Amino acid sequence: MNTILNLPGPKARAILERDHAVISPSYARAYPFVMDHGRGTDVWDVDGNHFLDFAAGIAVTSTGHSHPQVVKAIQQQAEAFIHISSDYYHEPWVTLGEKLNQIAPFEEQAVSFMTNSGTESVEAAIKLARYHTGASQFIGFLGAFHGRSMGSLSFTASKPHYHEGFYPLMNGVTHVPYPNPYRPILACRPGQDYGEAVVEYIEHQILGQTLPHREVAGILVETIQGEGGYIVPPPGFYPALRRLCDQYDILLIVDEVQSGMGRTGKWWAIEHFGVEPDIVCAGKGIASGMPLGAMIARKSVVTWPLGSHGNTYGGNPLACAAASNTIDLIEKQYLKNAAEMGDLALDILNEMMARHPSIGDVRGMGLMIGVEFVKAKDIAARHTKEPDADLRERVVYLAFERGLLTLGCGKNTIRISPPLSITRTELEEGLHIFEEAITLAEKGAQPHVSGNGH
Ligand SMILES: Cc1ncc(COP(=O)(O)O)c(C=O)c1O
Repeated sequence: MNTILNLPGPKARAILERDHAVISPSYARAYPFVMDHGRGTDVWDVDGNHFLDFAAGIAVTSTGHSHPQVVKAIQQQAEAFIHISSDYYHEPWVTLGEKLNQIAPFEEQAVSFMTNSGTESVEAAIKLARYHTGASQFIGFLGAFHGRSMGSLSFTASKPHYHEGFYPLMNGVTHVPYPNPYRPILACRPGQDYGEAVVEYIEHQILGQTLPHREVAGILVETIQGEGGYIVPPPGFYPALRRLCDQYDILLIVDEVQSGMGRTGKWWAIEHFGVEPDIVCAGKGIASGMPLGAMIARKSVVTWPLGSHGNTYGGNPLACAAASNTIDLIEKQYLKNAAEMGDLALDILNEMMARHPSIGDVRGMGLMIGVEFVKAKDIAARHTKEPDADLRERVVYLAFERGLLTLGCGKNTIRISPPLSITRTELEEGLHIFEEAITLAEKGAQPHVSGNGH
């Protein structure tokens, strides 16, 4: 049994109080963890409590917390210059562009627009798709999360509270079901791949009945759905979607903000499906935690002229230096590690599933793994798939009290998304705490910590 930490400690409580006075209450804090410092997968709070970080700052600290090489690159760049703006040129920006060109998931040359966040990468993709095609309409997916600025928010469809109070949104997004193999909502013909069924629905019910294909600029899709529940589509989905896009001259835009940058054991999750997209949205893990994103597109698509899109901080030198070093580290060690540790985690979690009726589904690629919880007294009852949001929440908190940081996604899923640098020992230790939390939650245990600090 792991020691139960007394959380939040006195120093944490004092900071929570100050936070409440001056920071926007809209931030959805998971639980009252107040960071002091971190190294690799280890983090410490301000009261000296130690945790293993299986959330990586929402899948961001790809090389682990404060990797020495990344820290050094930021320090060196800061001493040279911190900012000059996108009105000028500098080498760290170009170097990053060259590296993104090397790892982009298509043959054609890649041209990148650097951003400061995931949502801004999505905004850039929306604008470029409209500009390039001259069309205004898009297809997005139920359960999607693409960000919270007006354009990306219009595609986001994972929870109604993201939209509540913010209408009108951007016009022109038609949502269709995401191909969730565990919870399909469309009928399939016998033997048909569910992903193909979804594409057939888009073709026949959407393009065939309401949305003229010539008006459609792009289809925006999270290659693996993140916030919506870490959902991996069936193998037939992307090949069929690519064929549809080719047939109707629609751009295939993949949002790899969460699934990209090596998280799934390949640079981009779309590579697992053997399909080349037209535009890739990147963010999160790209710079180990420095705020950076990129919209990476085939050169032939980037037809917008000088001045049509820009930003003050685009290509920020500190963020670019961090990103180039992040890419080097992932290439050298962590891509392979993410694939290996991901396989190990899936093996351990599948074994765990055999012992715990509340685990309805385990799925994922590399270190992007979802564990979905259902109401079931015994293994036989698991097939009802009734979501257990309360148990999921208790597992997150019980794990937190025992020194493990995890985050939920969807209604009743926990995401396992540690740094790509995680060691075998850390992975096993963290999953051990995870199982302890599940065992306790199944027995009805209530965490001592409650609420998110508010
Ligand atoms: C798939 C995906 N796209 C876009 C975003 C938005 O990124 P940001 O919060 O950096 O704006 C997120 C954030 O969680 C995401 O998971």
